[in-house]
Amino acid sequence: MIVTTKELFKQAYGKYAIGAYNINNLEQCMGLFRGNIASKAPFIIQISKGARSYTNKLMLEGIIRAADQVFPEAIFAVHLDHGDEATCMDCINSGFYSSVMIDASAKPFEENVAITKRVVDAAHAKGLVVEAELGQLGGVEEHVQVSESDAKLTDPDQAKEFVERTGVDSLACAIGTSHGAFKFSGTQGLHFDVLAEIQKRLPNFPLVMHGSSSVPQDEVRRINIAGGKLAGAKGVDADQFLPAAKLGVTKINIDTDGRLVWCRVHREHFILKPEDFDLRPAGKEFMAAYADFIADKNVKLGSAGQLDAVRAALA
Ligand code: G3H
Ligand code: 13P
Ligand code: ZN
Repeated sequence: MIVTTKELFKQAYGKYAIGAYNINNLEQCMGLFRGNIASKAPFIIQISKGARSYTNKLMLEGIIRAADQVFPEAIFAVHLDHGDEATCMDCINSGFYSSVMIDASAKPFEENVAITKRVVDAAHAKGLVVEAELGQLGGVEEHVQVSESDAKLTDPDQAKEFVERTGVDSLACAIGTSHGAFKFSGTQGLHFDVLAEIQKRLPNFPLVMHGSSSVPQDEVRRINIAGGKLAGAKGVDADQFLPAAKLGVTKINIDTDGRLVWCRVHREHFILKPEDFDLRPAGKEFMAAYADFIADKNVKLGSAGQLDAVRAALA
């Protein structure tokens, strides 16, 4: 059942965070649903602009609609990740998405407010909810590289003004994470002090943490042994998810970790079975590994085991 992120946030706020997982293809979709059902978790499917154009936006939409039928017990939101204004409008008018993210965080504050407000007005008129971003994460996103020194933490006072002026439903805050597999060059971590200040000014308002992959060191080691070159890759400590949730982080975005699972499974598969050229055995291994990965992640997020309570609240 497709619901809005707002409905999920109402149940989760202050207690746990909902996993927001990016997918691009059939195998990721299948593993995602299996892992969430196995761990009894509500979840958010994220579709980026790149994912929409990887094959065709209608292909991914068709796969997700089919998964909704194959797994009737699933409760999830369908969310555009890092949209520009035109893509947001396309998704709002598609009748498929339940929420969109407008990411005008690279623009000056006033421009970010104006663009976000236009998207909020269009989305709310059709019953969709909107996430926006203030501050700037480091890392790679849509092929744009933002260096650690150019990344800007969210200003708590500006966050309050931004939310009041735009009417947005949730806010992605920059609190020290970055996109991709190389998050921290040194010993930096999350800025819980900044998060606490934002929550103080925006009580009961859902905050979003992007760039939250943990980049498991065992996964990196196995990829490198199997021929990969990911030396120095580093992510967010998953034990920080629940403390962040207590401070208002209600949606936690994870993409890179799923890519690492895909990379590890396929590298190891073809090294161990060099005679193999059929795509299905490796695809099956990936779906099983991705489902296990999702179920484990949901335990860290606190969303595992919440599905029945969410279903009861929505009834
Ligand atoms: O934050 C970006 C997500 O990881 C999506 O990545 O634009 O390469 O699909 P993508
Ligand atoms: P990661 O690169 O840490 O997985 O972040 C994903 C993300 O923020 C998607 O919006
Ligand atoms: Zn992101």
